Amino acid sequence: MGAYQREYERAANDPEKFWAAAAQTLDWTRPPRRILDVSAEPTVTHWFPDAELNTCANALDRHVAAGRGGELALIYDSPVTGTVRRFTFAELTDEVARAAGALAALGVGRGDRVIIYLPMIPAAVVSMLACARLGAVHSVVFGGFAAAELAARMDDAQALVVVSASCGIEPARLVPYKPILDEAITLAAHAPTATLIVQRDQQRCSMITGRDHDWDAALAAAAPLPPVPVAATDPLYILYTSGTTGRPKGIVRDNGGHAVALAWSMGNVFGIRAGDVMWAASDVGWAVGHSYAVYALLLAGAATVLYEGKPVGTPDAGAFWRVVAEHGVNVLFTAPTAIRAIKKEDPAGALLRGHDRSSLRALFLAGERLDPATYDWAVATLGIPVIDNYWQTETGWPICANPIGLEPLPTRAGSPTVPMPGYHVRVLDPAGQPVPAGTEGAICLRLPLPPGTLPTLWEDDDRFVASYLSAFDGYYLTGDGGYLDDDGYLFVLGRTDDVINVAGHRLSTGSMEAVLAAHPAVAECAVVGVADALKGQVPRGLVVVKTGVEIGPDTLAAELVARVRAEIGPVAAFQRVDVVAALPKTRSGKILRRTMREIADGRSPAVPPTIEDATVLDALRPVLTATP
Ligand code: COA
Ligand code: AMP
Repeated sequence: MGAYQREYERAANDPEKFWAAAAQTLDWTRPPRRILDVSAEPTVTHWFPDAELNTCANALDRHVAAGRGGELALIYDSPVTGTVRRFTFAELTDEVARAAGALAALGVGRGDRVIIYLPMIPAAVVSMLACARLGAVHSVVFGGFAAAELAARMDDAQALVVVSASCGIEPARLVPYKPILDEAITLAAHAPTATLIVQRDQQRCSMITGRDHDWDAALAAAAPLPPVPVAATDPLYILYTSGTTGRPKGIVRDNGGHAVALAWSMGNVFGIRAGDVMWAASDVGWAVGHSYAVYALLLAGAATVLYEGKPVGTPDAGAFWRVVAEHGVNVLFTAPTAIRAIKKEDPAGALLRGHDRSSLRALFLAGERLDPATYDWAVATLGIPVIDNYWQTETGWPICANPIGLEPLPTRAGSPTVPMPGYHVRVLDPAGQPVPAGTEGAICLRLPLPPGTLPTLWEDDDRFVASYLSAFDGYYLTGDGGYLDDDGYLFVLGRTDDVINVAGHRLSTGSMEAVLAAHPAVAECAVVGVADALKGQVPRGLVVVKTGVEIGPDTLAAELVARVRAEIGPVAAFQRVDVVAALPKTRSGKILRRTMREIADGRSPAVPPTIEDATVLDALRPVLTATP
């Protein structure tokens, strides 16, 4: 039996023993004596219910105390500003302790929520860790979201303070963050009482006296604070993600289970140990950024690269290889879309030349389906293992991967390999019965979920149960469809709900439909994800105009595109709306979104027998399959 099989079975047969052993790699102010409490299941699974620790102390102070304070912790590489800045564990600890002091001076304490709306600059990592140090709960919001989305998150989290910056820097333009923040605070019903603002030289912003505080000045004046021990089950952060409705879901991450699972995954899944350098080229606004650009690396005593740039255009498609060479990156983690962007601009890999990639041991790809063409190109061009791994914001770490730190397994094209210890992956039919190998169904995880996964949704246990646990008794519903092969390799075929994945960014078509439906000329609408060669999927709108309304289709389309950008944000990449005569419906009036989605995905779904008028669907086929 190989190391993977042995560990998988150990975790399955005696999960408490397995995770208790994994917990010993961390420092606890009160070590766990109880490991798993499922008494409240299905609502909440508590890992390490009687333990106490501080995540920031484990990520920083612990390494300084062990004499590793002079080693590298964070490398900030920003091609958009021409900056490289390095922080040792001692320097980062000092900065974070002062940021904790600055937040505390604004009234932030254990359990309070802090919104972080920042570009990829050191203050993002520092403020996340500063919240962890105080026992406060951070909620990072991706910079590509508009004011209304930011306001919705402020309201749901009831945040006390926001940390933000004057601007972000996209290759073609400056993004003024502060006006977006000001607008969001105006829109929010529960506006935060104070802000901490990083003034960037590229575009400074005006400040509101009494409410807005300068980051540099506040940190300079702050008293450094020590870590506050918290319950392992206390929330570390809330990360909002798209659900099937317009209202985002507040995924809760705890402190103890999160630290244990991430530390375990570093060595066993990624093969990363103290002293290594790993680069997750994902914004800190996403789950990959939280887990593998910030917490896991530092918990393991490894250095993380924080990259403020793009795979292409900053300045070219050789940027990733320059960063790998310059910082001796051992493992690179990104989304397939980034590799597709590089491949498109540099198909022959000419820009790899001149960059020493000898440090690079593996490329991990996640966040969307890894198409075989991209996988093959990456393997052939880089000559290192390319690891497809499958997970979700909800799980926080891979459900399936090839655990190269434990035992590299043979790969199979199109599969993120096998379930990680602690995950019981089952494919179920509509009646909730496991299907035979090779048969497609709903990808589910048998409860309990392993440490590090969501215990619930923020202040909404009912929605947690309704969204994830109510479809099949005893199982967590991933929302993805797929199958297991004879050897237990998982193949993920795509979402079975109205969530789409645009350039590795998870978005809800429901929230875009809500924006379209609010336009006075729109009678009804649908948004479906259509296949896109670069971004994997892009949203496409279909609208029917109200009878009697006179508006040109191009005018309406332009107005709708502008509305989605203004209300959801540029990240939605919503660029095309078709005005159509009718939408396909069942006889009871339900729009056939799933059928349209499958046609757009290039599949040939059976036309539902309940369809009201099949010719309406036929008329839409060319629109759904047209190149964006
Ligand atoms: N702040 C403000 N705006 C942002 C932003 C941010 N942090 N990130 C993206 N945007 C804007 C972009 O400027 C763009 O605006 P535009 O419509 O004015 O051009 C829009 O949002 C869409 O951005 P993006 O999805 O980045 O598309 P792109 O065409 O600019 O670049 C890729 C395409 C593939 C290079 C890019 O999507 C990419 O790097 N993807 C990797 C994704 C990733 O790492 N995902 C993490 C999950 S693992
Ligand atoms: P997010 O929560 O943004 O990380 O998005 C999670 C969703 O992305 C999953 O539910 C899948 O639909 C998709 N996804 C993530 N990783 C993979 C993968 N390796 N293969 C296929 N789909 C993936």
